[in-house]
Amino acid sequence: MLKFGKDFIFGVSTSAYQIEGAVAEGGRSPSIWDIFSRTPGNIHGEDIGDVACDHYHRFREDVALMAEIGIDAYRFSISWPRIFPEKGKYNPEGMEFYKKLIDELSKKGIKATVTLYHWDMPEWLYEMCGGWLNRDSVKWFKEYAIKVFEELNDSVKFWITFNEPQCSSYLGYGNGFHAPGHKNMREALIAAHHILLSHGAAVEAFRGFDFKDSKIGIALNLTPAYPASDSKEDMEAAYRFDGFMNRWYLDPVFKASYPEEMEEIYKGFLGEFDFIKNGDLEKISIKNDFLGVNYYSRQLVKFSQNSRLNFEVAHGNFERTTMDWEIVPEALNNLILRLRKEYTRIPIYITENGAAFNDRISEDGKIHDDKRINYLREHLIKVAELNEKGANIRGYYVWSLIDTLEWSYGYEKRFGIIFVDYETQKRIFKDSALWYKNLIKERGLKET
Ligand code: FCB
Repeated sequence: MLKFGKDFIFGVSTSAYQIEGAVAEGGRSPSIWDIFSRTPGNIHGEDIGDVACDHYHRFREDVALMAEIGIDAYRFSISWPRIFPEKGKYNPEGMEFYKKLIDELSKKGIKATVTLYHWDMPEWLYEMCGGWLNRDSVKWFKEYAIKVFEELNDSVKFWITFNEPQCSSYLGYGNGFHAPGHKNMREALIAAHHILLSHGAAVEAFRGFDFKDSKIGIALNLTPAYPASDSKEDMEAAYRFDGFMNRWYLDPVFKASYPEEMEEIYKGFLGEFDFIKNGDLEKISIKNDFLGVNYYSRQLVKFSQNSRLNFEVAHGNFERTTMDWEIVPEALNNLILRLRKEYTRIPIYITENGAAFNDRISEDGKIHDDKRINYLREHLIKVAELNEKGANIRGYYVWSLIDTLEWSYGYEKRFGIIFVDYETQKRIFKDSALWYKNLIKERGLKET
């Protein structure tokens, strides 16, 4: 039996735009995702988050479901345009929703883990100055973060400044797959820099508060790169992919620098980096209390003449989820070992891990998602084994509590351990929720 320590946190994750709905209630103004999702062609099935899982109205029911599973912590994000629906205008009604949610969690003994930015920038900010392209975004983010710290203070045990800066910058500004839908690599790097600077500014502001036992960190999406062959070209291509995907975010946060060889390559076709000012990297690398790791899959990579960075993704042979992501728990193991060796000794939390499959309600009214159970189980085995070797992983959050709007993929991709019938908003435990419940009760896993 692999055991988890008594303080190990078993959690679940969600994010505001993906579940809340009520986009025009409580004084909320639109976010860039409301606008992006309304634009035909951006989201599979033309889905939008107007209602989503109606969590805004059903949060009590959702917290009760969490309590039934027995989870220790709930990771959710705050919708910035609920808090500041207009420039400089604080909206107490928006904050009230999160206070009520945290209150409900605390009644059930569930800790609140709050992400400040999970991609839904207020549209006014984007329209006013271009969002993350403008260095002023740091100032606006800091204002928002301070207000949230002040209002929620130590009712929140874990703060996450940003969810996956790589996605908000590259997918948002580089390839246009996410809001606001720009396609410009230079812009992606500018956005990334301002997001990282905002992270530093928020952590600095947080240190000015006298919270007793609240911690702060950032959640990075890390995708280990594996070469498609042993050839020198493929190995170098994998290293460049790693620079593009992982090191571009890890190095500034932990080493106060951008990866030099990537900087050279980028400058070759994007021009000088005048958006990086003296002292920025010191601010970005301010000490975090923990690192959040969002891990789903690895990426196989090969050399290519057809891309600026001279790599392209290759097709691996592991079994896949319906996201077409390979299932490779061993890559999580290697990733954590690498983080420990090359980057940091601060506590790590797996802030997202999970899988989408084609869940169907069976004739017995249940959802038999054995593949998801296997996925979660195999990754949790790695976590427990790593901890036996001293990896200091303090917690694990399943993505996701419930099925959600999976961004550009729409509602079709289901990650939840709880099924949502979007017609009726009925929630149904999948087998994986029952499995998770049992795991939390036992705080241990059989290896076979
Ligand atoms: C991550 C996001 C999360 C969800 C999962 C599947 O990149 O943080 O919102 O979409 O992927």
